Amino acid sequence: MNVTRYSYLSFLLLFALMVAPGLVRAQDAPSEQVLAGEKLYKSNCASCHKLNAKLIGPALEGVESRWAEQADHDGISGREWLKRWIKNWQDPVNAGNPYAVSMQNYDASAMTQFPALQDADLENILAYIAYGPIGSTGPTGPTGPLETAENPYTAYMLWGLLILLVVVALVLLRVSNLLNRLVLEKAGEEIPAPVPFWKNKKFRAALTLLIVIYIGNATVTGAIDLGRQQGYMPEQPIKFSHELHAGINKINCQYCHSSAAESKHSNIPSTNVCMNCHKGIKGDDPKNGKYGKLEISKIYAAIGFNPFSGQYFEDYANQEKSYIDSIFTVWLSDSKVKATDKDVEAVLAQVNKPIEWTRIHNLPDHVYFNHSQHVTAGGIECQTCHGPVETMEELYQFSPLSMGWCINCHRETEVKFNQNPYYETFQVYHERMKEGEMKNVTVEKIGGLECQKCHY
Ligand code: HEC
Ligand code: HEC
Ligand code: HEC
Ligand code: HEC
Ligand code: HEC
Ligand code: HEC
Repeated sequence: MNVTRYSYLSFLLLFALMVAPGLVRAQDAPSEQVLAGEKLYKSNCASCHKLNAKLIGPALEGVESRWAEQADHDGISGREWLKRWIKNWQDPVNAGNPYAVSMQNYDASAMTQFPALQDADLENILAYIAYGPIGSTGPTGPTGPLETAENPYTAYMLWGLLILLVVVALVLLRVSNLLNRLVLEKAGEEIPAPVPFWKNKKFRAALTLLIVIYIGNATVTGAIDLGRQQGYMPEQPIKFSHELHAGINKINCQYCHSSAAESKHSNIPSTNVCMNCHKGIKGDDPKNGKYGKLEISKIYAAIGFNPFSGQYFEDYANQEKSYIDSIFTVWLSDSKVKATDKDVEAVLAQVNKPIEWTRIHNLPDHVYFNHSQHVTAGGIECQTCHGPVETMEELYQFSPLSMGWCINCHRETEVKFNQNPYYETFQVYHERMKEGEMKNVTVEKIGGLECQKCHY
C-alpha cells in the first residue's frame, strides 16, 4: 500500500484551506426574514444609517441589546420601545423613556417617521440588523461606505485546521517511510538510510508549489484593493466639519473648492479662505460652537493672527516663539470648552506651520481624472461622487473610486450633448438624434470606455 498518496491528498486539502480564508464567509445563509429586512432597510434606513459606523443617525449594529439593556420603561420592555421608536420616534420620547429622550438629541436632523411599518416589518428589519450586511456588493455595486462581514474566528479556525493537517501530513509521511522499510526488511533487501522529511523531494516540490500559489493569491488580492479606500476617514489636524459649513451654514462647495469647476484638480482651501470668516468668528461666543476656541485657534496659530487685537502679527516668522505661545495660552485659558494641556499643545504645535490636511481621495498615478470635465462639461453634482458631504461632520471617501465605478457611470450617464459645443464634431450622432434613431448619447458612445482616455 502506498501511504504517500494520503499525504498528497493532505496537501490538496491544505491548498484549499490556504486559499479558503479569502473566500469563505463566516455567516450562515440569510433567512427569508433577514432578506425581507434587508429590502426594507435599504429602501428606508440606509440613507441615514450604516450598520457599523455613524452616518446621520448612529450605527445600528447592536442596537437591540442597547435598548434591551437601557430602555425598559413603564413596565414595557426596551425592545418593544425600540420598535415603537422606529415606527415613530416621538412615541417613546413623549412617553418620557429616558433612553429615547437622550437619543433624540443625537443629531440636529430628526429621523423620519415610518407609521406604515407593520410589526412584522419591524421584526424583519431588526433581524437584518442583527444578522449584519449580506455578502459584498463588490466594486461595481451601489456606492456607500464599505461594509465587510469577515469573522476573525473563522480565519483562526481555518488556520488551526491547516496546522493540524500539516501535522497529519508529516505523520503520514513518517508512517509511509516506516512501512516501506518494513517491506524491504521482510524481503531481506538492504535498507536505505532514512531520509528526513524536509529532504524528501516530493515534500519539497509540494511545499514550493504551495508557497507560489499563496504568494500569487496574496498579490492579486492586494492589487485589486490598490487605491480602494472606500469609507476612509482619517483624523484631520483641525476638526473641520462639512456639516457645519456646507450643511448648516450653507456655504457653497465652490466657495472653498474653487478649482473643481475649472481645472483637473479640485483644491483644499488655503488658510486665507478660512480667515475670510474666522477673523470675526473666533469661537469665543458662549452660545455657539462645539469646541469653543480650541479648534479655530489652530487657524490663527498657523497664519499668525492675534485674536486679542484682531490683527495679523507683524513679521510672524521672526517673532519670539515664547511670546506667541504666551498669547495663545492666555487666549485659550477662558475657552468655553475648557482647554486641557494637550489642547494647548496642539495649538502651539501649529504656530507658524501650514495646516497639513490628510488627503482622502487618491487615484493611482496611472489614472487620469479631470474635475472640470465632470463638474462643468458633464454638469455632475459633487454629491453624486462624494456623497452627502453636507451631512458629514467628518469627511470620508463615499465612492469606491474603482475602475468599475467609473465605467458603470459612463455606461449609464447621458452627456449634455446638445448644449455643449465640444460635441458638434460628432455629426453622425447629431443626425441620428434628429431623425429620432437615437434618443440619447451616453459617455460610453463618445469614447468614455476607451482605456487610453482614463489611463496614461
Ligand atoms: C432622515 C434620516 C433617518 C432615516 C431615514 C432613518 N433614521 Fe434612524 N435615526 C436618525 C437619527 C438622526 C437618529 C438619532 C436620533 C436623533 O438625533 O433624532 C436615529 C436613530 C435611530 C435609532 C436609535 C439608535 C440607537 O443607537 O439607539 C434607531 C434604532 C433607528 N434610528 C432606526 C432606524 C430604522 C430602522 C430606520 C429605517 C426604517 C431609520 N432609522 C431611518 C435618522 C434617520
Ligand atoms: C468652508 C470651506 C469648505 C466648504 C464650504 C466645503 N469644503 Fe470640502 N473641504 C474643506 C477642507 C478644509 C477640507 C480638508 C479637510 C477635510 O477633509 O475635512 C475639505 C475636504 C473635502 C474633500 C476631500 C478631499 C480629499 O482629501 O480627498 C471633498 C471631497 C470635499 N471637501 C468636498 C466638498 C463638497 C462636495 C462640498 C460642498 C457640499 C464642500 N467640500 C464644501 C473645506 C470646505
Ligand atoms: C464663509 C464663512 C466660513 C469660512 C470660509 C470658514 N468657516 Fe469655519 N465656521 C463658519 C461658521 C459660520 C461657523 C460656526 C460658528 C458658530 O457656530 O459659532 C464656523 C465654525 C468653525 C469651527 C468651529 C466648530 C465648533 O463647533 O467649535 C471650526 C474649527 C472652523 N469653522 C474651521 C474652519 C476652517 C479650518 C476653515 C477654512 C478651511 C473655515 N472654518 C472656513 C464659517 C466659515
Ligand atoms: C465624477 C465624479 C466626481 C465629481 C462630480 C466630483 N468629484 Fe471630486 N473627486 C473625484 C475623484 C475621482 C477624486 C480623486 C482624484 C484624484 O485622486 O486624482 C476627487 C477628489 C476631490 C478632491 C481632492 C483634491 C483632488 O482634486 O484630488 C476634492 C477637494 C474634491 N474632489 C472636491 C469636489 C467638489 C467640491 C466637487 C463639486 C464641485 C467635486 N469634487 C465633484 C470625483 C468627483
Ligand atoms: C457620476 C458619473 C461619472 C463617474 C462616477 C465618472 N464619470 Fe467620467 N464622465 C462622466 C460624464 C457625464 C462625462 C462626459 C462629460 C462631458 O460632457 O464631456 C465623463 C467624461 C469622462 C472622460 C472624458 C471622456 C471622453 O470621451 O472625452 C474621462 C477621461 C473620464 N470621464 C474619466 C473618469 C474616471 C477616471 C472616473 C473614475 C475615477 C470617472 N470618469 C467617473 C460621468 C462620470
Ligand atoms: C472610465 C475610466 C477608465 C477606463 C475607460 C478604463 N479604466 Fe482601467 N482603471 C480606472 C481606474 C479609476 C482604475 C483604478 C482602480 C483602483 O484603484 O482600484 C483603473 C485600474 C486599472 C488597472 C489596474 C488594476 C486595478 O484593478 O487596479 C488596469 C490593469 C486597468 N485599469 C486596465 C484598463 C484597460 C485595459 C482598459 C480598457 C479596456 C481600462 N482600464 C479602461 C479607470 C478606467
